[in-house]
Amino acid sequence: MALHGTIHLHPAHVVGPVRRRTFGSFVEHMARCVYTGIHEPGHPLADADGLRTDVLALTRELGVSSVRYPGGNFVSGYRWEDGVGPVEQRPRRLELAWHSTETNAFGLDEFMTWADKAQVEPMYAVNLGTRGTQEALDVLEYTNAPTGTAWADARAANGHEEPYGIRMWCLGNEMDGPWQIGHKTAEEYGRLAAETARAMRRMDPDLELVACGSSFPSMPTFGAWEQAVLAAGYEAIDMISAHIYFREDHAANQASYLAAGEELDDYLDAVVAACDHARTLGKHSKRIMISVDEWNVTNASRGGDAGEDPSGEDWPEAPAFAESTYTAQDAVVVGNLLISLLRHTDRVASASQAQLVNVLGPIRTVPGGPAWRQTIFHPFALTSRHVSGQVLTTVSESPQRANPRRGGTSPVLDAVATWDEGTGSLVVLAVSRSRGQDLEVAVPLGAFGEDFAVQEAVVLHDEDPYAVNTADDPDRVLPRPLAGARIEEGTLRATLPPIRWAMIRLGRQG
Ligand code: AHR
Repeated sequence: MALHGTIHLHPAHVVGPVRRRTFGSFVEHMARCVYTGIHEPGHPLADADGLRTDVLALTRELGVSSVRYPGGNFVSGYRWEDGVGPVEQRPRRLELAWHSTETNAFGLDEFMTWADKAQVEPMYAVNLGTRGTQEALDVLEYTNAPTGTAWADARAANGHEEPYGIRMWCLGNEMDGPWQIGHKTAEEYGRLAAETARAMRRMDPDLELVACGSSFPSMPTFGAWEQAVLAAGYEAIDMISAHIYFREDHAANQASYLAAGEELDDYLDAVVAACDHARTLGKHSKRIMISVDEWNVTNASRGGDAGEDPSGEDWPEAPAFAESTYTAQDAVVVGNLLISLLRHTDRVASASQAQLVNVLGPIRTVPGGPAWRQTIFHPFALTSRHVSGQVLTTVSESPQRANPRRGGTSPVLDAVATWDEGTGSLVVLAVSRSRGQDLEVAVPLGAFGEDFAVQEAVVLHDEDPYAVNTADDPDRVLPRPLAGARIEEGTLRATLPPIRWAMIRLGRQG
């Protein structure tokens, strides 16, 4: 017997605008994200800058808006100056975050060239692990100052006369984590981040600055960390970061994994609460926004297909590890996480899926060989391409199912909708977390008028939820038409078989 769910929408009930920066990604000097990911001189499809044109094309197709760079854990030991100037003069370094050798063949100028070709906004992270305010000011002068001073002139000498004008900056990475090079207490980091932010604004007042929040919600200092950091620098920063990854640890956990979107909802609500508590305590008027600058699913278990983390005497260049091969079910969960991010568009000002290529990425490459779309590519690309206008407050009536990891139950149906009054486009994104029964979904449309028609209805699934896309079979898991999506007497109706992500686009008739 089928389950039933209803999605309630009204064009006047708005959460906030669809923000392009929700569809950001992340490129770190980690494993094969940069080298043999986006940059591979000698590859048959590399351009004159050594950039893989197949990966550039896929990045544009994915609809990526902004890209965080150069880390990640990598940034906390990084000397950005190593990566500029003549390539043959750049130093090789032992890279301590990922136990690798960093050749520095790719650096800031190469990244900006790549970002330009990929048509993405750069988001640059400074090292507040082994370095501090001065080095942050130096790299800011290199990127954003007009010529006439030392670092700006160095940029011009390296072939880039005009300032890059980078707006979004991360003040370090995951500084609450004991694994982080230069890990700090909340008070130490809060003071350094605040002083660095104030100094950077003296050079360029228009920056948008992101302070490190917690590395994930189960950190023992989650909440207290945000309070201390915001107490030190509330007025100096614009956003606080939130990072979160989900994995299906074992089959018994499938129901909980499918409900990952609910955990992301809870996490974001808790970060908002922490920010607003700090606002009250400090008697501030502005609201701190959230940068979810690392989020994704992962099934990169150690070894095997995912590759081995380097260790011991071996300091390889661009080793292959953390290469998640994603399933159809992973794609459904990613679609649900995007629903959650959109639902929080009033407070999530930026988000970056981690990472873009190979390392947990929606794009996978073979060195010297092909690049292809992993399963999680598809819900990201479709959501990014089609949502516009305003995110609507979306109330779902849904059957519930047990959620063993969290305790209690979670809804089977999750959904969000966007409404673009200018174009008359209504986009409904929905997920069925049901593992056995079809879910019949109804969306009453009375509040939108009567002349709607279904323009496109697609669904992401596979009869085998663990089916994957590979170099030999890159299109095994694809979005397919959702049969039977229709409007009947002013109500959109569709049936979602188990473990499905769906997008239904409606528009005015005629
Ligand atoms: O994205 C991979 C790593 O995960 C990042 O370097 C780090 O910030 C996080 O813990």
